[in-house]
Amino acid sequence: MSWKFFVSHSLPLFFLFFFYSFPLISTKHNDDPTFKTMHDFSGYPVDESSHTFTPSNSISLSVDIQALQKQIDELSTFSDTPAPSVTRILYTENDVLARRYVKNLMGLAGLSVTEDVVGNIFGRWDGYEPKLTAVATGSHIDAIPYSGKYDGVVGVLGAIEAINALKRSGFKPKRSLEIILFTSEEPTRFGISCLGSRLLAGSEALAEALKATVDGQNISFLEAARSAGYARDEDDLSRVFLKNDSYSAFVELHIEQAPILEEEGISIGVVTNIAAPASIKVDFEGNGGHAGGVLMPDRNDAGLAAAELMLAIEKHATESGSLDTVGTVGILELYPGAINSIPSKAHLEIDVRDIEESFRNAVINKIHKAAKSIAKKRKVTLSEFKIINQDPPAHSNGSVIKAVVDASDELNLTYKYMISRAYHDSLFMASSNGHDIYSMLQRI
Ligand SMILES: *[C@@H]1O[C@H](CO)[C@@H](O)[C@H](O)[C@H]1NC(C)=O
Ligand SMILES: *[C@@H]1O[C@H](CO)[C@@H](O)[C@H](O)[C@H]1NC(C)=O
Ligand SMILES: *[C@@H]1O[C@H](CO)[C@@H](O)[C@H](O)[C@H]1NC(C)=O
Ligand SMILES: *[C@@H]1O[C@H](CO)[C@@H](O)[C@H](O)[C@H]1NC(C)=O
Ligand SMILES: [Zn+2]
Repeated sequence: MSWKFFVSHSLPLFFLFFFYSFPLISTKHNDDPTFKTMHDFSGYPVDESSHTFTPSNSISLSVDIQALQKQIDELSTFSDTPAPSVTRILYTENDVLARRYVKNLMGLAGLSVTEDVVGNIFGRWDGYEPKLTAVATGSHIDAIPYSGKYDGVVGVLGAIEAINALKRSGFKPKRSLEIILFTSEEPTRFGISCLGSRLLAGSEALAEALKATVDGQNISFLEAARSAGYARDEDDLSRVFLKNDSYSAFVELHIEQAPILEEEGISIGVVTNIAAPASIKVDFEGNGGHAGGVLMPDRNDAGLAAAELMLAIEKHATESGSLDTVGTVGILELYPGAINSIPSKAHLEIDVRDIEESFRNAVINKIHKAAKSIAKKRKVTLSEFKIINQDPPAHSNGSVIKAVVDASDELNLTYKYMISRAYHDSLFMASSNGHDIYSMLQRI
């Protein structure tokens, strides 16, 4: 079964059943003043007719399959590279146009559209008990260079079509439903992944750091945000932080980004945990020298120190005691980078993950020890060992896992329980108010 078939026939229905089967819980009302109301801006009327409709499982729901596929295709045309590739970088013209496209769809669906100062976009369908906290879903639409058109897009556009189908059926939710488009899930422009959701989760450190963050062209984050129409009047990014208990549940639909579901012919991955990621930057420095001139015993080769550290990372990740530990060196740079020059400096960037924070942190400590002893042995300097981020893992809430499974059963979709080893905005929504996260993967 191809992805296209899957999107066209099963996905929006999945959303519908999820919303139906989610247990309604009473918590305190969210009237977060950091959200600017964009009714004036968007100019869309909010359709709030019936306040008495009671959902029933026998309701007939119909999804506009062609419309959804057409929207996915149309959104993919807002790209800096030619089709079929998609490149959509934060706050560029195509990003702004794509955001406008999504806001239009939210408006046409009768959602009230609001944005915060970094451009997280919220489309809300008020429930008939407005004091209850909302159930939210959503994902991202930015795209790394030469990527594809589904990625997080399907978690945004699929959600809008799910709400459209519910509205067409006459359904009126008790609890408000909200769709979130997160700003900059991808680190492409400013080197920070899940920028919008990290801020929503209340990262003071990030709010502060962004004041001094620039992109590869030395354009500041705030300048770029302003050029896209955000952060206009002030630069207090802590206004983005969510209040505790803003949402009673959050679920993200996202492609799997691994081959497991496709290989096994399974439709839905029900996420039970999201692995805790960490990234580290390391620099070794030696004396360099001419590749012909300096004899082997006289060298302190920074490149060999890096090579030895890479093998140590593999060893410690493999021997951590947990099958879930992974360690990767995705960036290795040697200076000055000439064939006849002994590397005087080596720069590595390391990614380490596990679903258990303690296993992951133990591996990081071992990598740090190894880096120090390798530097000593090879007479190079460990000039940097910097932990860039060290995020906690997240565990999905049992009642939502059950809702996902029940919905899959109802729709005759095959599913399996999975760990999300890639992470998305859900990881940070999980820590936004102390609630567990709710997430699911979908086959590519
Ligand atoms: C980047 O811009 C700032 C402020 O405009 C300037 O002070 C700095 O020199 C620039 N840096 C580079 C590398 O161009
Ligand atoms: C939100 O929750 C955190 C952690 O439980 C707590 O420290 C903080 O005081 C709470 N904030 C508010 C505004 O209630
Ligand atoms: C899971 O979610 C339900 C419904 O929101 C809530 O009552 C329960 O406390 C949550 N469980 C955990 C472990 O957070
Ligand atoms: C699921 O399968 C059952 C049994 O084959 C069938 O009765 C039901 O209509 C199917 N449901 C859907 C949504 O296709
Ligand atoms: Zn994504």
